Amino acid sequence: MTDTATQALDRTRISAILEREEAEYRRRTPRSAELFERARRALPLGVASSFQAYEPYPLFMTDARGSHIRDADGNDYVDYDMAFGVLAAGHSHAEFARVLAERVANGTCYTFPVEDGVILAEEIKRRFGCDLVRFSNSGTEATMDAIRVARGFTGREKLVKFEGGYHGHHDDVLVSIQPPRELMGPADAPTTVPASAGLPRSRVEETVVAPYNNPDALEAILERHRGEIAAILIEPVQFNIGVVPPLPGYLERVRELATAHGAVLIFDEVKTGVVLAYGGATEWFGVTPDLFCLAKSIGGGVPIGAFGGRAEVMGVIEKLPDRATDPTTGLEHTTIAGGATRVAHLGTFNGNPLSMAAGVAVLTRILTRDAYPRLHALADRLTAGCQGVIDEFGLPGYAVNVGPKGCVMFTPARVTNYRDFIGLDSELWAASFFYLANRGVLLPPGPDDQWTLSVAHTDDEIDAYVATFRDFATVLTA
Ligand SMILES: Cc1ncc(COP(=O)(O)O)c(C=O)c1O
Repeated sequence: MTDTATQALDRTRISAILEREEAEYRRRTPRSAELFERARRALPLGVASSFQAYEPYPLFMTDARGSHIRDADGNDYVDYDMAFGVLAAGHSHAEFARVLAERVANGTCYTFPVEDGVILAEEIKRRFGCDLVRFSNSGTEATMDAIRVARGFTGREKLVKFEGGYHGHHDDVLVSIQPPRELMGPADAPTTVPASAGLPRSRVEETVVAPYNNPDALEAILERHRGEIAAILIEPVQFNIGVVPPLPGYLERVRELATAHGAVLIFDEVKTGVVLAYGGATEWFGVTPDLFCLAKSIGGGVPIGAFGGRAEVMGVIEKLPDRATDPTTGLEHTTIAGGATRVAHLGTFNGNPLSMAAGVAVLTRILTRDAYPRLHALADRLTAGCQGVIDEFGLPGYAVNVGPKGCVMFTPARVTNYRDFIGLDSELWAASFFYLANRGVLLPPGPDDQWTLSVAHTDDEIDAYVATFRDFATVLTA
């Protein structure tokens, strides 16, 4: 789409639609409003995770099945949020519900290992072609643990992450997620900008920020920090600024640079893993990291996380390497173990029977290899449908998907990194969000997230989404 098309939209009309649709949202959801008022007196922002908060108030939900979810006022929605991408297996798939009911009746936490943990680790090994896997309870824990393993393996302390990427809420990665324009610094050497108060300055200084989709800038950054970078942490598709795929050859180049600089390459597959493909982004793009992190969809709706990778790297959980020189680059390592002989990876709930049973059910019975072609076909249908509407009405933006995850990006030009994303028309996005929600099409409540399709979505639901989006475009341009 062109800038001309953007300017052609009547701003007064967008504001009027937003105002009207927000009023309708309030009218339809009084019980959520009431619960929110109560929640605000017990929980900061009235929610358990600040990601759940949005204006005027979030919907409170009561039940969900397949592709449908129902709010506290009994309104039914086709769910395209799917819990921020957790539910490629759908809500409460019958097999999932059966396995979990059986598990709940037989104990949910032992802190002794269970066979399901072995089965799940073996399944992940098969899918991702890795040697060893460990479990945690969230994506945050998975990236935190993988970074520690990388530091233990390399004996280095610094981490490279990419501007606009989100990897959880621990101190190392809670920087430069969506930094304000005035703080973000040069495009090829972004400033590390804390995304939260309460981060120690010493931690923030250990994270170096690079621009996504710019291999030359990454190379220069690695050169400037030669011998210091323990890990390069990257989400293969940037899914926290809409949908931003890697440019052709980009991930391959990142792989080469990580190897050349003796840094551990970590793929954050919390959103991509077992969703884009059977073997996640690793299979989809054909690039193999040293470590990868999983969470969300592998548990089908119960808390879970995992990380895995090459035996040599994961092996530091058993014993730190005693060499002091990187085999690839010849770079000298200085030990940061402080006398410890191995990397600690701990957690009361790691590998708990409930999460393991859930993971086994999802990966071996629901998201099996033959589930993916249909997921991809559904996604292509939705993207093509939305793009058709955009073209027909000359809307500013484009529809994009990678595998079963996609969105409409309300930006005048294609987004290749965070700096392009800043141009997104958030008022137009909000107008579309409320318009669709009021008609039973529920998207994630933020322009930085995307739809996730599940095995439970149908062609008819996709067509109804496109028809509703078309109605929105008609009202917008009438
Ligand atoms: C790419 C990515 N990594 C890590 C995380 C953190 O996962 P969790 O919320 O399970 O801690 C998220 C959460 O949205 C994510 O999208």
